[in-house]
Amino acid sequence: MSKIRKTVMAMEGYIPGRQPKGSFVKLNANENPYPPSPKALEAMGAVGADSFRLYPSSTAVELRKTAALVFGVPFDCTVAGNGSDDIFTMIIRSILDEGDTLAVVDPTYTLYETLAEIQGAKTEKHPLKEDYSLPESYFESEAKLKILPNPNAQTGTLFPKEDIVRLVESAKGIVVIDEAYALFSGSNAIELLSRFPNLVVTRTMSKSHSLAGLRVGFGLAAPEIVEAFMKVKDSYNLNAASQAAAREALLDGEYTSGVIKKIVETRDDFGKGLATLGWEVTPSWGNFLLAKPNSGDAAEITAYLENNGYLVRHFDTPRLKDKIRFSIGKKEQMDELLELLKKYTAR
Ligand SMILES: Cc1ncc(COP(=O)(O)O)c(C=O)c1O
Repeated sequence: MSKIRKTVMAMEGYIPGRQPKGSFVKLNANENPYPPSPKALEAMGAVGADSFRLYPSSTAVELRKTAALVFGVPFDCTVAGNGSDDIFTMIIRSILDEGDTLAVVDPTYTLYETLAEIQGAKTEKHPLKEDYSLPESYFESEAKLKILPNPNAQTGTLFPKEDIVRLVESAKGIVVIDEAYALFSGSNAIELLSRFPNLVVTRTMSKSHSLAGLRVGFGLAAPEIVEAFMKVKDSYNLNAASQAAAREALLDGEYTSGVIKKIVETRDDFGKGLATLGWEVTPSWGNFLLAKPNSGDAAEITAYLENNGYLVRHFDTPRLKDKIRFSIGKKEQMDELLELLKKYTAR
Protein backbone atom coordinates (compact mmCIF):
# COMPACT_ATOMS: atom_id res chain seq x y z
CA MET A 1 0.00 0.00 0.00
CA SER A 2 1.32 3.44 -0.86
CA LYS A 3 2.60 5.62 1.93
CA ILE A 4 1.47 8.71 0.05
CA ARG A 5 -1.94 10.29 0.78
CA LYS A 6 -4.70 8.99 -1.50
CA THR A 7 -5.61 12.51 -2.59
CA VAL A 8 -2.05 13.24 -3.60
CA MET A 9 -1.67 9.91 -5.40
CA ALA A 10 -4.81 10.64 -7.42
CA MET A 11 -4.03 14.22 -8.38
CA GLU A 12 -2.23 15.36 -11.48
CA GLY A 13 -0.47 18.36 -9.94
CA TYR A 14 -0.15 21.85 -11.38
CA ILE A 15 1.57 22.08 -14.77
CA PRO A 16 3.59 25.30 -15.08
CA GLY A 17 4.72 26.84 -18.37
CA ARG A 18 7.58 24.79 -19.84
CA GLN A 19 11.19 25.88 -19.35
CA PRO A 20 13.11 23.88 -21.98
CA LYS A 21 16.87 24.30 -22.38
CA GLY A 22 18.05 26.33 -25.34
CA SER A 23 17.68 29.84 -26.54
CA PHE A 24 14.00 30.71 -26.82
CA VAL A 25 11.95 33.87 -26.74
CA LYS A 26 9.83 32.83 -23.79
CA LEU A 27 6.23 33.88 -24.28
CA ASN A 28 4.50 31.04 -22.45
CA ALA A 29 4.29 32.12 -18.78
CA ASN A 30 3.22 35.77 -18.93
CA GLU A 31 6.62 36.94 -17.75
CA ASN A 32 7.69 40.52 -18.37
CA PRO A 33 10.19 41.01 -21.22
CA TYR A 34 11.78 44.08 -19.60
CA PRO A 35 14.22 44.11 -16.66
CA PRO A 36 13.04 45.08 -13.17
CA SER A 37 13.45 48.64 -11.89
CA PRO A 38 17.17 49.54 -11.61
CA LYS A 39 16.39 50.68 -8.07
CA ALA A 40 15.20 47.17 -7.20
CA LEU A 41 18.37 45.63 -8.61
CA GLU A 42 20.49 48.12 -6.71
CA ALA A 43 18.66 47.32 -3.46
CA MET A 44 19.20 43.63 -3.98
CA GLY A 45 22.90 44.17 -4.63
CA ALA A 46 23.14 46.14 -1.40
CA VAL A 47 21.79 43.29 0.73
CA GLY A 48 24.79 42.45 2.92
CA ALA A 49 26.20 39.09 4.00
CA ASP A 50 24.50 39.42 7.39
CA SER A 51 21.11 39.44 5.75
CA PHE A 52 21.91 36.05 4.24
CA ARG A 53 23.41 34.68 7.45
CA LEU A 54 20.37 35.60 9.53
CA TYR A 55 16.72 34.72 8.98
CA PRO A 56 14.71 37.37 7.18
CA SER A 57 11.79 39.19 8.79
CA SER A 58 9.24 36.39 9.12
CA THR A 59 6.36 38.78 8.54
CA ALA A 60 8.13 40.98 5.95
CA VAL A 61 7.44 44.06 8.05
CA GLU A 62 9.24 46.72 6.00
CA LEU A 63 7.94 45.36 2.71
CA ARG A 64 4.39 45.32 4.04
CA LYS A 65 4.71 48.89 5.28
CA THR A 66 5.65 49.89 1.74
CA ALA A 67 2.84 47.80 0.27
CA ALA A 68 0.34 49.42 2.64
CA LEU A 69 1.51 52.84 1.50
CA VAL A 70 1.44 52.03 -2.21
CA PHE A 71 -1.88 50.15 -2.15
CA GLY A 72 -3.48 52.66 0.21
CA VAL A 73 -4.55 50.18 2.91
CA PRO A 74 -3.74 49.85 6.64
CA PHE A 75 -0.64 47.82 7.50
CA ASP A 76 -2.62 45.12 9.32
CA CYS A 77 -4.60 44.50 6.13
CA THR A 78 -1.50 43.20 4.31
CA VAL A 79 0.30 39.89 4.10
CA ALA A 80 3.29 39.12 1.87
CA GLY A 81 3.89 35.85 0.10
CA ASN A 82 6.45 33.93 -1.89
CA GLY A 83 4.63 34.96 -5.05
CA SER A 84 0.86 35.30 -5.04
CA ASP A 85 0.71 31.50 -5.39
CA ASP A 86 1.87 31.39 -1.77
CA ILE A 87 -1.04 33.66 -0.83
CA PHE A 88 -3.46 31.22 -2.49
CA THR A 89 -1.95 28.46 -0.36
CA MET A 90 -2.62 30.55 2.77
CA ILE A 91 -6.17 31.27 1.59
CA ILE A 92 -7.02 27.63 0.93
CA ARG A 93 -5.32 26.38 4.10
CA SER A 94 -7.13 28.84 6.33
CA ILE A 95 -10.59 28.80 4.74
CA LEU A 96 -11.32 25.35 3.35
CA ASP A 97 -11.77 22.27 5.49
CA GLU A 98 -11.79 18.83 3.91
CA GLY A 99 -14.98 18.45 1.89
CA ASP A 100 -15.64 22.22 1.61
CA THR A 101 -16.18 23.81 -1.76
CA LEU A 102 -14.14 26.23 -3.81
CA ALA A 103 -15.98 27.83 -6.74
CA VAL A 104 -14.02 28.95 -9.80
CA VAL A 105 -14.89 29.83 -13.36
CA ASP A 106 -13.77 27.89 -16.42
CA PRO A 107 -11.42 28.58 -18.10
CA THR A 108 -9.21 30.16 -15.46
CA TYR A 109 -5.91 29.80 -13.58
CA THR A 110 -5.79 26.13 -12.63
CA LEU A 111 -3.57 26.38 -9.54
CA TYR A 112 -6.57 27.23 -7.33
CA GLU A 113 -8.09 23.83 -8.06
CA THR A 114 -4.79 22.02 -7.43
CA LEU A 115 -4.43 23.68 -4.02
CA ALA A 116 -8.02 22.81 -3.10
CA GLU A 117 -7.36 19.21 -4.13
CA ILE A 118 -4.32 19.04 -1.81
CA GLN A 119 -6.54 20.29 1.02
CA GLY A 120 -9.15 17.62 0.27
CA ALA A 121 -11.69 20.24 -0.80
CA LYS A 122 -13.99 20.08 -3.82
CA THR A 123 -13.86 22.46 -6.77
CA GLU A 124 -17.06 23.61 -8.42
CA LYS A 125 -16.44 24.88 -11.96
CA HIS A 126 -18.71 27.45 -13.57
CA PRO A 127 -18.24 27.67 -17.33
CA LEU A 128 -17.94 31.27 -18.50
CA LYS A 129 -20.50 32.34 -21.09
CA GLU A 130 -19.57 32.31 -24.78
CA ASP A 131 -18.27 35.92 -24.50
CA TYR A 132 -16.33 34.94 -21.34
CA SER A 133 -18.62 36.90 -19.03
CA LEU A 134 -19.73 35.50 -15.65
CA PRO A 135 -22.59 32.97 -15.64
CA GLU A 136 -25.52 33.46 -13.23
CA SER A 137 -24.60 30.19 -11.51
CA TYR A 138 -21.36 31.72 -10.25
CA PHE A 139 -23.22 34.49 -8.45
CA GLU A 140 -25.71 31.99 -7.07
CA SER A 141 -23.14 29.47 -5.82
CA GLU A 142 -23.09 29.11 -2.04
CA ALA A 143 -19.47 27.89 -2.00
CA LYS A 144 -17.43 28.80 1.06
CA LEU A 145 -14.74 30.31 -1.15
CA LYS A 146 -14.68 31.85 -4.62
CA ILE A 147 -11.44 32.81 -6.38
CA LEU A 148 -11.68 34.87 -9.54
CA PRO A 149 -8.83 36.50 -11.44
CA ASN A 150 -9.59 39.91 -12.89
CA PRO A 151 -8.44 40.23 -15.65
CA ASN A 152 -9.07 36.53 -16.08
CA ALA A 153 -6.14 34.22 -16.74
CA GLN A 154 -5.94 32.52 -20.13
CA THR A 155 -8.71 34.66 -21.64
CA GLY A 156 -7.35 38.13 -20.71
CA THR A 157 -10.89 39.42 -20.40
CA LEU A 158 -12.00 41.86 -17.72
CA PHE A 159 -15.09 41.43 -15.54
CA PRO A 160 -16.84 44.77 -14.96
CA LYS A 161 -16.70 46.37 -11.53
CA GLU A 162 -20.50 45.93 -11.10
CA ASP A 163 -20.04 42.15 -11.41
CA ILE A 164 -17.28 42.13 -8.82
CA VAL A 165 -19.41 44.14 -6.38
CA ARG A 166 -22.42 41.89 -6.98
CA LEU A 167 -20.30 38.78 -6.48
CA VAL A 168 -18.85 39.95 -3.18
CA GLU A 169 -22.15 41.38 -1.94
CA SER A 170 -24.11 38.21 -2.65
CA ALA A 171 -21.47 35.71 -1.48
CA LYS A 172 -22.13 33.45 1.49
CA GLY A 173 -18.39 33.07 2.05
CA ILE A 174 -15.14 34.75 1.08
CA VAL A 175 -14.39 36.10 -2.38
CA VAL A 176 -10.83 36.45 -3.61
CA ILE A 177 -10.12 38.71 -6.55
CA ASP A 178 -6.76 37.76 -8.03
CA GLU A 179 -5.39 40.98 -9.51
CA ALA A 180 -2.18 39.52 -10.94
CA TYR A 181 -2.78 41.48 -14.17
CA ALA A 182 -4.63 44.48 -12.74
CA LEU A 183 -1.98 47.06 -13.60
CA PHE A 184 -2.29 46.24 -17.32
CA SER A 185 -6.02 46.87 -17.15
CA GLY A 186 -6.62 49.80 -14.82
CA SER A 187 -9.01 47.62 -12.79
CA ASN A 188 -8.77 47.80 -9.02
CA ALA A 189 -10.75 45.92 -6.41
CA ILE A 190 -8.58 47.22 -3.55
CA GLU A 191 -10.87 50.21 -3.17
CA LEU A 192 -13.72 47.81 -2.31
CA LEU A 193 -11.90 46.38 0.70
CA SER A 194 -13.16 49.01 3.11
CA ARG A 195 -16.77 48.13 2.15
CA PHE A 196 -16.56 44.35 2.18
CA PRO A 197 -15.11 42.33 5.09
CA ASN A 198 -15.43 39.11 3.05
CA LEU A 199 -13.19 40.34 0.21
CA VAL A 200 -9.53 39.39 -0.34
CA VAL A 201 -7.50 41.00 -3.12
CA THR A 202 -4.21 39.49 -4.28
CA ARG A 203 -1.45 41.21 -6.18
CA THR A 204 1.87 39.97 -7.60
CA MET A 205 5.24 41.52 -8.45
CA SER A 206 5.76 38.84 -11.14
CA LYS A 207 3.97 40.46 -14.05
CA SER A 208 4.01 44.27 -14.05
CA HIS A 209 7.17 44.57 -11.90
CA SER A 210 9.32 41.96 -13.73
CA LEU A 211 10.13 40.06 -10.52
CA ALA A 212 8.74 36.59 -11.29
CA GLY A 213 12.05 35.02 -10.29
CA LEU A 214 12.13 36.69 -6.88
CA ARG A 215 8.64 35.44 -5.94
CA VAL A 216 6.75 38.25 -4.26
CA GLY A 217 3.01 38.65 -3.91
CA PHE A 218 0.52 40.23 -1.53
CA GLY A 219 -2.81 39.46 0.04
CA LEU A 220 -4.96 42.40 1.13
CA ALA A 221 -7.95 41.82 3.41
CA ALA A 222 -9.61 42.67 6.71
CA PRO A 223 -7.24 42.25 9.73
CA GLU A 224 -9.08 39.13 11.04
CA ILE A 225 -8.53 37.40 7.70
CA VAL A 226 -4.89 38.50 7.51
CA GLU A 227 -4.37 37.15 11.03
CA ALA A 228 -5.59 33.74 9.89
CA PHE A 229 -3.25 33.82 6.86
CA MET A 230 -0.32 34.65 9.16
CA LYS A 231 -1.04 31.56 11.26
CA VAL A 232 -0.94 29.13 8.33
CA LYS A 233 1.84 30.63 6.23
CA ASP A 234 5.29 29.06 6.05
CA SER A 235 7.48 30.60 8.75
CA TYR A 236 10.05 32.57 6.71
CA ASN A 237 8.19 32.60 3.44
CA LEU A 238 10.01 35.54 1.82
CA ASN A 239 13.79 35.72 1.57
CA ALA A 240 15.77 38.83 2.50
CA ALA A 241 16.81 39.76 -1.05
CA SER A 242 13.23 39.55 -2.35
CA GLN A 243 11.95 41.71 0.50
CA ALA A 244 14.57 44.39 -0.19
CA ALA A 245 14.18 44.46 -3.98
CA ALA A 246 10.38 44.34 -3.94
CA ARG A 247 10.17 47.41 -1.72
CA GLU A 248 12.10 49.50 -4.21
CA ALA A 249 10.21 48.09 -7.17
CA LEU A 250 6.91 48.97 -5.51
CA LEU A 251 8.09 52.53 -4.89
CA ASP A 252 9.36 53.01 -8.44
CA GLY A 253 5.92 53.63 -9.91
CA GLU A 254 7.26 55.74 -12.76
CA TYR A 255 9.43 52.91 -14.06
CA THR A 256 6.58 50.40 -13.75
CA SER A 257 4.13 52.67 -15.61
CA GLY A 258 6.64 53.07 -18.45
CA VAL A 259 7.05 49.31 -18.82
CA ILE A 260 3.29 48.72 -18.67
CA LYS A 261 2.66 51.35 -21.33
CA LYS A 262 5.10 49.67 -23.72
CA ILE A 263 3.59 46.22 -23.13
CA VAL A 264 0.02 47.44 -23.59
CA GLU A 265 0.94 49.21 -26.86
CA THR A 266 2.76 46.13 -28.14
CA ARG A 267 -0.19 43.92 -27.11
CA ASP A 268 -2.65 46.06 -29.03
CA ASP A 269 -0.41 46.23 -32.14
CA PHE A 270 0.16 42.49 -32.03
CA GLY A 271 -3.59 41.89 -31.69
CA LYS A 272 -4.23 44.04 -34.77
CA GLY A 273 -1.50 42.16 -36.65
CA LEU A 274 -3.06 38.80 -35.78
CA ALA A 275 -6.52 40.07 -36.80
CA THR A 276 -5.07 41.16 -40.16
CA LEU A 277 -3.86 37.58 -40.63
CA GLY A 278 -7.44 36.46 -40.03
CA TRP A 279 -7.03 35.23 -36.45
CA GLU A 280 -9.91 35.60 -34.01
CA VAL A 281 -8.44 37.70 -31.21
CA THR A 282 -9.97 37.88 -27.71
CA PRO A 283 -9.65 41.49 -26.49
CA SER A 284 -7.15 41.43 -23.64
CA TRP A 285 -6.57 43.52 -20.53
CA GLY A 286 -3.50 41.51 -19.46
CA ASN A 287 0.10 41.15 -20.65
CA PHE A 288 -0.97 38.30 -22.94
CA LEU A 289 -3.37 37.62 -25.74
CA LEU A 290 -5.58 34.62 -26.50
CA ALA A 291 -6.25 34.04 -30.18
CA LYS A 292 -7.67 31.41 -32.52
CA PRO A 293 -5.85 30.75 -35.79
CA ASN A 294 -7.74 31.34 -39.03
CA SER A 295 -6.64 27.92 -40.22
CA GLY A 296 -4.44 25.13 -38.98
CA ASP A 297 -4.23 23.37 -35.68
CA ALA A 298 -3.30 25.44 -32.61
CA ALA A 299 -1.09 22.67 -31.14
CA GLU A 300 0.76 22.32 -34.46
CA ILE A 301 1.30 26.06 -34.73
CA THR A 302 2.65 26.07 -31.17
CA ALA A 303 5.15 23.36 -32.14
CA TYR A 304 6.09 25.25 -35.34
CA LEU A 305 6.78 28.39 -33.30
CA GLU A 306 8.88 26.41 -30.82
CA ASN A 307 10.93 25.00 -33.71
CA ASN A 308 11.54 28.60 -34.72
CA GLY A 309 12.64 29.75 -31.26
CA TYR A 310 9.33 31.05 -29.82
CA LEU A 311 7.69 29.41 -26.83
CA VAL A 312 3.98 30.15 -26.56
CA ARG A 313 1.26 28.38 -24.55
CA HIS A 314 -1.29 25.90 -25.79
CA PHE A 315 -3.83 24.46 -23.34
CA ASP A 316 -5.30 21.10 -24.29
CA THR A 317 -8.66 21.78 -22.68
CA PRO A 318 -12.11 21.92 -24.32
CA ARG A 319 -12.52 25.71 -24.37
CA LEU A 320 -8.88 26.54 -25.19
CA LYS A 321 -7.52 23.78 -27.40
CA ASP A 322 -8.26 25.61 -30.65
CA LYS A 323 -6.44 28.75 -29.42
CA ILE A 324 -2.95 29.93 -28.46
CA ARG A 325 -2.01 32.21 -25.59
CA PHE A 326 0.82 34.60 -26.40
CA SER A 327 2.57 36.45 -23.58
CA ILE A 328 3.54 39.90 -24.81
CA GLY A 329 7.26 40.36 -25.40
CA LYS A 330 9.18 43.31 -26.79
CA LYS A 331 7.85 44.98 -29.94
CA GLU A 332 10.58 43.52 -32.17
CA GLN A 333 9.93 40.01 -30.83
CA MET A 334 6.21 40.25 -31.50
CA ASP A 335 6.87 41.61 -35.01
CA GLU A 336 9.14 38.64 -35.72
CA LEU A 337 6.51 36.29 -34.33
CA LEU A 338 3.92 37.76 -36.69
CA GLU A 339 6.30 37.25 -39.62
CA LEU A 340 6.68 33.59 -38.61
CA LEU A 341 2.91 33.21 -38.51
CA LYS A 342 2.62 34.84 -41.95
CA LYS A 343 5.11 32.32 -43.31
CA TYR A 344 3.17 29.50 -41.68
CA THR A 345 -0.04 30.63 -43.37
CA ALA A 346 1.70 30.98 -46.75
CA ARG A 347 3.13 27.43 -46.70
C1 LIG B 1 -4.09 34.67 -12.62
C2 LIG B 1 -2.76 34.40 -12.04
N1 LIG B 1 -2.60 34.55 -10.73
C3 LIG B 1 -1.40 34.34 -10.14
C4 LIG B 1 -0.31 33.93 -10.89
C5 LIG B 1 0.98 33.62 -10.18
O1 LIG B 1 1.62 34.69 -9.74
P1 LIG B 1 2.90 34.60 -8.80
O2 LIG B 1 4.08 34.57 -9.70
O3 LIG B 1 2.80 35.83 -7.99
O4 LIG B 1 2.82 33.36 -7.96
C6 LIG B 1 -0.43 33.78 -12.26
C7 LIG B 1 0.74 33.35 -13.04
O5 LIG B 1 0.75 33.15 -14.21
C8 LIG B 1 -1.69 34.02 -12.85
O6 LIG B 1 -1.87 33.86 -14.16
